[in-house]
Amino acid sequence: MLKTNRLDLVAFDLERDLAALHAMFSDPEWARGGYMTPTTSVDESRERLAREFGDNGGWTWVLRVRPDEDAAGVIGVFSDQGSSIRGMGWYLRRERWGAGLMSEAARAVSDHLLLQPSITGVEAWIDSRNGRSIAVARHAGLDLVGRLPRTHYGEIAQSVVMGRAAEPHDPVTLGVSPALHVQDVDGTARLLCDVLGLHVRFQLDDLALLGFTEWNGQSGLEVRRATGAISPATVTVDIGVLVDPLYAAARAAGLVDSTPPEDTPWYRRTFTLVLPEGHRLTISGPVNPR
Ligand SMILES: CC(C)(COP(=O)(O)OP(=O)(O)OC[C@H]1O[C@@H](n2cnc3c(N)ncnc32)[C@H](O)[C@@H]1OP(=O)(O)O)[C@@H](O)C(=O)NCCC(=O)NCCS
Repeated sequence: MLKTNRLDLVAFDLERDLAALHAMFSDPEWARGGYMTPTTSVDESRERLAREFGDNGGWTWVLRVRPDEDAAGVIGVFSDQGSSIRGMGWYLRRERWGAGLMSEAARAVSDHLLLQPSITGVEAWIDSRNGRSIAVARHAGLDLVGRLPRTHYGEIAQSVVMGRAAEPHDPVTLGVSPALHVQDVDGTARLLCDVLGLHVRFQLDDLALLGFTEWNGQSGLEVRRATGAISPATVTVDIGVLVDPLYAAARAAGLVDSTPPEDTPWYRRTFTLVLPEGHRLTISGPVNPR
């Protein structure tokens, strides 16, 4: 058991805790707050708990707000996927929200997990609109490390990836910026900004440096004036919006050699955007919502 100021964090027991956690999972208002779908039966809640926390080495705790003996929520690492970076999930009953309880639990649990020799980092994937959960992650010492597309119950969204390393260190490589050599630097840069939402970071006569966002410290794409024959490059571009409208926009922008979108076996949808001078950008995004 782990103890914090107000909480006992007790090893999770499916049969003992199922009723309390099902009351939470099946609350539609609770699910809306977390950008999730409520469960509709006890069996579904059981299945969810087993799927998320079933095979995780026992690192799941229920929150008990002293002196209460019921589970006010649950926190744990997701089932082992053979990686030393472990994903975390946290869920608190709605009537307990806003009192700092999950922040208290997440700090204690991540401190504990990061002392384990098999764990080099903890990670949480959080819907970018879920401000409460992002605040919990920050209180537990997790920082923004990445962003992923999220296809979730009929809608498209994005997850922020928050992470905390056991031994934080600066990375060697900060980014990768492929260079596309073209005759028409200006036209190509404009086209990429229009279709892919890139931003001109700076532009000289023979070079445009395009960023994925407007922020500094991000890699991007270089468009350089070709000095000889152009050898077409192939570059993969990850996007966080639906692929099909982007394909339509590419066609409308005159990129008619682009190939139509298709699903990959690894749950991405891709198409190849062929630029006027032959460069091929594999656009990889989320699959369509069902
Ligand atoms: C996410 C969840 C666990 C948070 O639990 P909690 O105990 O209420 O969180 P805390 O009280 O510790 O922290 C909430 C933080 O969110 C902030 N917050 C409260 N309402 C908010 C809102 N509408 N938007 C953004 N932030 C908000 C609070 O100010 C607080 O931050 P602060 O301490 O810096 O002021 C709980 O809301 C929950 O179970 N949600 C549904 C399930 C879920 O989303 N799980 C996470 C999936 S990744």
